Amino acid sequence: MKKECVLVCGGAGYIGSHTCVELIQAGYDVVVVDNFSNSEPSAIDHVRRITGAEIPLIEADCCDREAFRKVFEKYEFNSAIHFAASKAVGESVQKPMLYYRNNLTSLMNLIDLMHEFNRPNLVFSSSCTVYGEPKKQPVTEQTPRQEATSPYGNTKKISEDILRDAMKAYTDMKTIALRYFNPIGAHPSALIGELPRGVPQNLVPYVTQTAAGIRECLSIFGDDYPTPDGSCIRDYIDVVDLAKAHVAAINRMTQGKSEANFEVFNIGTGRGVSVLELANKFQQVNHLKLNYKIAPRREGDIIAIWADPTRANTVLGWKAERTLDETLESAWNWEKHLRGIE
Ligand code: NAD
Ligand code: WQD
Repeated sequence: MKKECVLVCGGAGYIGSHTCVELIQAGYDVVVVDNFSNSEPSAIDHVRRITGAEIPLIEADCCDREAFRKVFEKYEFNSAIHFAASKAVGESVQKPMLYYRNNLTSLMNLIDLMHEFNRPNLVFSSSCTVYGEPKKQPVTEQTPRQEATSPYGNTKKISEDILRDAMKAYTDMKTIALRYFNPIGAHPSALIGELPRGVPQNLVPYVTQTAAGIRECLSIFGDDYPTPDGSCIRDYIDVVDLAKAHVAAINRMTQGKSEANFEVFNIGTGRGVSVLELANKFQQVNHLKLNYKIAPRREGDIIAIWADPTRANTVLGWKAERTLDETLESAWNWEKHLRGIE
């Protein structure tokens, strides 16, 4: 029997590459489109190595509608996942038009082409950034979204709105927006993981690069927040668990289980972890000493946020499984593999 195929836009990236592995292992074929603006084609070689699958990889920009259209003309698929976006919060403040153009044009092209070619199922990468600084923890999908604090965050809010409106008009299509909390870690094979360009802005890549001796010292941004140990709290979600949430979303749509044609799910563990806890746990599980210091607060940081994942657990049938220990171990194994550390 012919397998169902999924178009993975931005599939060579961090979350996309892990999702390709999980889709293939769940019995799907995948076709990847990427412009490699923040990734390397070799990531897909590694996915091929992990899975043994053949994966068509098309170098194209999703903002280039004619190039994107060729993918629809050539390949048959009923579902697409849209990872292709620019994601650096700080850069989005400096280059807002790049973020609005890339993140919104690529999405609008995808919706138009899916509608034109009758490809019904779409999964969208949203973010907990849409909740801003929540008044109450944990956040549910009903927690009000707040004004975005960066152009990047705003593209996620606007993208959700575009999708909601498009799904009202295109009733033969379905979208699931997954609001990721903080994705971290790497595949247990250590063949794929996060590849930050330049100085990492996110916590775990900075931690692993510090442990590898590439960065001198981790700065912990603030220990005077109104939290139990004074550092910020996040919900760190393992990237393999996160990848599996996409498989659950695709299954739900292809099996006709959606209750509405636009649905939203929080994808997190439900567990809030502070920056200090994470740094200490990283040292403990990997048996090493991490050079870190307390530094001033970082402008624009949310004090605390963690997910209520009940809806994803009960409706989507997905649950985070890997422990924080396993995830932090996988993050360090990936860094060691990249740097050739024994
Ligand atoms: P990533 O940068 O590793 O992956 C994005 C991929 O899309 C890259 O391979 C990049 O080359 C590609 N790409 C970007 N613009 C493109 C375009 N116009 N055409 C074709 N390819 C394009 O990022 P990621 O961490 O894997 O994130 C994937 C998605 O999840 C993004 O939409 C991001 O905003 C969202 N997200 C990420 C996080 C996070 O912390 N990593 C959290 C919440 C949401
Ligand atoms: C986590 C915590 C920092 C680096 C960002 C985006 C968000 C989402 C996920 C996409 C914070 C602290 C960090 C360091 C530190 N992405 N930290 N020292 O800020 O929660 O979210 O990525 O949608 O939109 O804003 O993630 O990893 O940058 O920070 O102390 O060197 O680690 O202050 O408390 P953040 P992060």
